[in-house]
Amino acid sequence: MAKRLHIKTYGCQMNEYDSSRMADILVPLGYETTDNPKDADLVILNTCHIREKAAEKVYSEIGRLRLMKDHRQQNGEEMMIAIGGCVAQAQGEEIMRRAPAVDMVFGPQSYQALPELIEKAKLAKNNKPSARPVAMDFASQDKFDRLPAQTSQNGVSAFLTIQEGCDKFCTLCVVPYTRGAEHSRPVSEIIAEARRLVAAGAADITLLGQNVNAYAGDDGSGQPARLGELMTQLADLDGLSRIRYTTSHPRDVDDALIAAHGDIEKIMPYLHLPVQSGSDRILEAMNRKHTADDYRAIVARLRAARPDLALSSDFIVGFPGETDRDFDHTMDLVRDITYAQAYSFKYSPRPGTPAAELTDQVAEDVKTRRLSILQDELRLQQNAFNEATVGKVLPVLFEKPGRHEGQWVGRSPYMQAVAVDGAAAAGASAGMEAQVEITGLHAISLAGRLVSSVDTDREAVAS
Ligand code: SAH
Ligand code: SF4
Ligand code: F3S
Repeated sequence: MAKRLHIKTYGCQMNEYDSSRMADILVPLGYETTDNPKDADLVILNTCHIREKAAEKVYSEIGRLRLMKDHRQQNGEEMMIAIGGCVAQAQGEEIMRRAPAVDMVFGPQSYQALPELIEKAKLAKNNKPSARPVAMDFASQDKFDRLPAQTSQNGVSAFLTIQEGCDKFCTLCVVPYTRGAEHSRPVSEIIAEARRLVAAGAADITLLGQNVNAYAGDDGSGQPARLGELMTQLADLDGLSRIRYTTSHPRDVDDALIAAHGDIEKIMPYLHLPVQSGSDRILEAMNRKHTADDYRAIVARLRAARPDLALSSDFIVGFPGETDRDFDHTMDLVRDITYAQAYSFKYSPRPGTPAAELTDQVAEDVKTRRLSILQDELRLQQNAFNEATVGKVLPVLFEKPGRHEGQWVGRSPYMQAVAVDGAAAAGASAGMEAQVEITGLHAISLAGRLVSSVDTDREAVAS
């Protein structure tokens, strides 16, 4: 009988991408994936260390898994527990000390070694002279070199990691420590992977990187290609209709990238460009290396290149030393830019980062109050954005049949889910696009009606 694998993923899209690659490595070795950890011979937690809450979840989850493992052992079955991802990278040894039920630990750059790690863990289990394996090397080149050619990403939307790691060292953030230095994959490798994804049904690809627009991969002649150039090449792929990228840093938005937003129709007019704070004092203390006005200017240039551009961002409230005045500057910036969507967090001190050592930490109740003021404003802006799409005609990329007879559900360029009645009769299928007039707003989706025929130029590659 096939062995069963359960992967639980926390954190960012890069972890989601990595989890899919782990499955790609293990499925050919005889594993099949299961949604239920109770049935699993191997459980992998792909963890996130970005905020304290995220990291703490790992220990409570290990506690739950330990009970399942005991239960399985009583029934003569096994369960291996593997901890991967950013908590593993930051606290691998500690996890091993605190949690004897864990069989192996590996960092985000080491999962290509999973087959060897599993073998070693088995030896350790059988009391052979071998310790439970801990793999935390930063061999990011290897990570991509040793991936199997097949892909388990078979939806209309897919992720493609093009860049790993971060050299920015914002004073608040663990990523440079957990993901290591910046590394970009070569252009040819990315194009080849994009082709495979398109062949497997993807029409909307999101390029991923902790600093995706710091991308500088080999263009084939030993020169670095920037993100604008890479997307220009990707845009030539037949069958790929939408290109997105995340997460970008304001400092790495160059002229070519702005121009690409104007020139390349396939780059979606929806950009996640985190600003974190609207106060120059706080931005400096965070080591972001740009001001609030620099950010306003970048957004203005992007909007000039692509007038239908909508934005999203990340915000942090309560960074050490943040005053009411600093927070007001953040609110001013939010009102100036107006966002279609955004994520916002209370600052969480992270071990080993410079900001965690600062003495002027902000009280929890102040953080809570500021977060709620900010989130109220962001919610209003998001609702206003969604309401403003009613009456507009937008291209919708179909993903799957809807709940009602003949209905199909797809995505607008702004990632809004749109339910289109009568699309089946018009020939909709996964990966096809049509012009849709947005007719109404539901709780978490939009309603629309077809105003063009479904684009039959494109072959339906997914079923
Ligand atoms: N490279 C991206 C962000 C990656 S981390 C950038 O620079 O924008 C994702 C988000 O987590 C960040 O944008 C930030 O808003 C949040 N974050 C990072 N460290 C944090 C911390 N210590 N406390 C709270 N939020 C944090
Ligand atoms: Fe973290 Fe800053 Fe790097 Fe973003 S740019 S991942 S916030 S260190
Ligand atoms: Fe979390 Fe690591 Fe991503 S810390 S946000 S999983 S890079």
